[in-house]
Amino acid sequence: MTESKVKVVFMPSGRRGNFPVGTPLLSAAQTLGVDIDSVCGGRGICGRCQILCMEGSFSKHGLVSKVEHLSPISDAEKKYSERKKKLAKGRRLSCHTLLQGDVVIDVPAESQVHRQVVRKDVEHRDITLDPCVHLYYVPVREADMHDPKGDLQRLYEALERDWGLKDLDIDFELMGQLQAVIREGKWTVTVALRHDVGNKSKRIIAIWPGFRGEVYGVSIDVGSTTVAANLCNLVSGEVVASGSLMNPQIRFGEDLMSRVSYVMMHPEGAEEMTSVIREALDQLIVQTAKDANVPLDQILELTLVANPVMHHILLGINPVELGGAPFALATDSSLTLRASNFNLSISNGARVYVLPCIAGHVGADTAGMVLAEEPQLEDEMTLLVDVGTNAEIVLGNKNRLIACSSPTGPAFEGAQISSGQRAANGAIERVRIDPETLEPRFKVIGCDFWSNEPGFDEQAGNKQTKVTGICGSGIIEAVAEMYLSGVISEDGVVDGNLSERSTRIQRDNRTWSYVLHQQGDSIISVTQNDVRQIQLAKAALYAGIRLLMDKLGVDKVDRIRLAGAFGSYIDVKHAMVLGLIPDCQLEKVSAAGNAAGTGARIALLNASARTEIETIVDRIEKIETAVEPKFQEYFVGAMAFPHKTDPFPLLFATVQRPPKKEPSDDLGEEGSRRRRRRR
Ligand code: FES
Repeated sequence: MTESKVKVVFMPSGRRGNFPVGTPLLSAAQTLGVDIDSVCGGRGICGRCQILCMEGSFSKHGLVSKVEHLSPISDAEKKYSERKKKLAKGRRLSCHTLLQGDVVIDVPAESQVHRQVVRKDVEHRDITLDPCVHLYYVPVREADMHDPKGDLQRLYEALERDWGLKDLDIDFELMGQLQAVIREGKWTVTVALRHDVGNKSKRIIAIWPGFRGEVYGVSIDVGSTTVAANLCNLVSGEVVASGSLMNPQIRFGEDLMSRVSYVMMHPEGAEEMTSVIREALDQLIVQTAKDANVPLDQILELTLVANPVMHHILLGINPVELGGAPFALATDSSLTLRASNFNLSISNGARVYVLPCIAGHVGADTAGMVLAEEPQLEDEMTLLVDVGTNAEIVLGNKNRLIACSSPTGPAFEGAQISSGQRAANGAIERVRIDPETLEPRFKVIGCDFWSNEPGFDEQAGNKQTKVTGICGSGIIEAVAEMYLSGVISEDGVVDGNLSERSTRIQRDNRTWSYVLHQQGDSIISVTQNDVRQIQLAKAALYAGIRLLMDKLGVDKVDRIRLAGAFGSYIDVKHAMVLGLIPDCQLEKVSAAGNAAGTGARIALLNASARTEIETIVDRIEKIETAVEPKFQEYFVGAMAFPHKTDPFPLLFATVQRPPKKEPSDDLGEEGSRRRRRRR
């Protein structure tokens, strides 16, 4: 008698086949190589294998699909619905649903093994979920006097029988609890298996009694100012909690170099800094786990990005070598370490993957940015810039990538600016200056109105939003608007002659300042020295970019992505007016958000992204700006707004170029000094 067969088509893959009546859907899917998830191995416990029957006539497949072509709801499904969340309408557990007629089956995204995790930024591909830690539930054969095999061997045997897993290893630390765990689970356990890409070994790193359905990981970006973390569910790919805190190392120095100097002067300081950052990391992880109600023992993987100094300090490596030429890294490779080395409260078996560094000043954070932004896939000449106290810059496309860092200093963060402050309530963040009247209007963080709008005084008058200073994005706009309205010349000199036209221009000892806001005795102004600080910072950045363009033999970039907090808030037009970045079509310049952190999250959710970034980093050419002979020349040219010689035609096609200023007779000493120097 011939066995009667039915046709099944799985969507969205379109894989199809004929199977005997009575075949479980999950087995049919597995035979066809359809990616349906499972942690319990088809026991109706995990609920991962859910599918939907699509009803109707599918002429393309030559079949009519009906719900009745599947077996009735099974006891296992009823039990699952009682025990766990009720199965949504039409959903079935494919492991307990048998084929009885022709069907078209929809495998929803959350049931697919390599599902896509949607990234919020529309510019990029979604992340394929394929973490290096997976859960497997197995019943273990009970101990038997007549078969004197060890518990571990019976566990291995079960994993091979149910999952085809062979040649396994186990963290030795787990041996102490193995027997108790197996018995507590009444001869059933869930193991977490870690599989490094590029490394054949599969290792059991955690074990729980009975069934566990979730496992988590944390991606962390250790910045010099802020440490930010995303706690992700490694089964769904979802970010379940995020958090950040100030890097406590700030008490050892605001910027990186002052922290390195601190270590040079206080050798014991390195250890101290290592321990405070590790404590902070632990605090952040514990807090995010608490926020999401995630047990700490289910966090099994961390990924880390950091700039080279933070990277070394976090790893317990003295950073002094990074304080001077040749800026040697202790290691530039990626690292996989035990979380227990970092004194973290998560599972003992958790591993920490640290992305590779690129060069002495271009760290794992830049590798993260490259992983997130994928310039290596672009035809367009792409410029990635992460602006901090050190700007990290990558330029290139699918043919070649090159990177450097440039010492921009802290001016872009509002430091070294007379009225500068961090981006917090009360900080001026947006500025416009009327070129006719030279009157400013501005926006303050925490207040919804522009300063010339009704409602501003009332809202900005309260304590929360009192105008207290200028943050990084505010100073960029203020200086750019001062240039566009003619308050400063292209050489950055505040024009004292304008004091006859506007009381906003005020003498400030031997130079002039522009007053943005005055409230009683408190004056918030942009001084000549503030303009100078911005010129120095932006010239360093532009010179670094120019060097990279030179090395690649290009004189224009097609696309610019600005990463980091600063890059997210600055207005790209104003940044270009200042000449922070090279000329480019404005619509091709955009913020990339925390790209380094996104890179860490990609490496957490997709194990092969690690091999990918390791290979790309090997290919990235590096230059050290400090020893490049042309750096100084480019730096000097870039002091002017937007640049002494580069014409910025694309920018000035959309922005009115201010009339060239004749050198004034009354520019104050700063102006006279500069003119003398130019001669
Ligand atoms: Fe776990 Fe179906 S595979 S419930």
